[in-house]
Amino acid sequence: MLVSSPVTKSPARAINPDALQALHGKVLGDCNAGIGGLLAFMGDKLGLFRLLAAAGPLTANQMAAQAGVNERLVREWLSAVAAAGYVKYEPEGELFEVTPEQAVVFAAEGHPAFMQGPIDLIYSLYHDEPQLRDAFRHGRGVRWGDHNACLFCSTERFFGPLYRSSIVGEWLPAIDGLIETLRNGADVADVGCGLGTSALIMAGVFPASRFAGFDNHVASIDSARRAATEAGLNGRVRFEAAAAKEYTGEFDLICFFDSLHDMGDPVGAVAHAKERLKPGGIVMLVEPYAEDRLEDNLSSARAPVSRFFYAASTLACVPGSQAQEVGLALGAQAGPRRLTAVLHEAGFDRVRIAARTAMNLVVEARV
Ligand SMILES: C[S@@+](CC[C@H](N)C(=O)[O-])C[C@H]1O[C@@H](n2cnc3c(N)ncnc32)[C@H](O)[C@@H]1O
Repeated sequence: MLVSSPVTKSPARAINPDALQALHGKVLGDCNAGIGGLLAFMGDKLGLFRLLAAAGPLTANQMAAQAGVNERLVREWLSAVAAAGYVKYEPEGELFEVTPEQAVVFAAEGHPAFMQGPIDLIYSLYHDEPQLRDAFRHGRGVRWGDHNACLFCSTERFFGPLYRSSIVGEWLPAIDGLIETLRNGADVADVGCGLGTSALIMAGVFPASRFAGFDNHVASIDSARRAATEAGLNGRVRFEAAAAKEYTGEFDLICFFDSLHDMGDPVGAVAHAKERLKPGGIVMLVEPYAEDRLEDNLSSARAPVSRFFYAASTLACVPGSQAQEVGLALGAQAGPRRLTAVLHEAGFDRVRIAARTAMNLVVEARV
């Protein structure tokens, strides 16, 4: 088949029908994923997955009665999520249930494999599309705080389970001697702390240490303070609204959990951290897993992870950085080489990739 490009009027290029069919099928699959996410989102907010996990197998009638929702709509929803493979249908008795795995993914709040957090995050980003599209034209980005409020709690819902399973078990031990330092009592800063989950997790495990979380988004700091009070950790954890180049104090460890690439001036942020370190102190970056080159991110075994992070980066991280001074816009797939260069430029002589996990890179920097 020969067609000329409707955009460039370039010479006709042959369309390979097999490649076209394969791409069409793939995008259809992606459309199903997109609309399936919306069904999963609604099932979460209406408590349908939790009901199935707790009380299934159920007929549509029983679901409607127990969830207090319209029977016809829930019957259609059940058919749709069964078609998506999100619930299991048993024709005999017209029963719906969730397998143990489906229960974890859709109903086990806090489990590392729970997926309603990223689904919430995608839903929230759809709401910001008009201002994101404008940002493509004006190039001045979109401030983190100007996203709709769902983004902040969905980020926490997404990362919280990962942090609870990884910070103390995997990331901190990747840095020599750090666990012992924290056990003995250290001063720790968490820069770009968001709703404070990472600082609170560490404070809960290392009672001899003191933690300070900083973020320039005031509403996130207010939530973090409430969370510290609820956790009874107010004495050892404080949260302050401060930008990454502004906070004061002296620290043995300064962490950036998924925040450095969101900053306008990451070199300035780690240079400031260097000034705030006690002698022998450490900067630890936790960044999304990435290789150095786009082609490697597209083809590595972690390509699905890269795909997600490039998308989130387009819609939140790059515009967030562009909205700040310098606007370096590292992106969520910066990769080890660029992260190392940022740290070197800020004056850190010793930089090491301390861990490469399924989802993250852990980078250690010392003067
Ligand atoms: C993707 S969120 C991560 C939040 C938290 N660390 C977590 O992992 O859940 C990035 C955070 O960096 C914060 N941030 C971005 N630029 C900042 C800056 N220049 N100074 C302080 N915080 C900043 C944002 O407000 C946001 O809370």
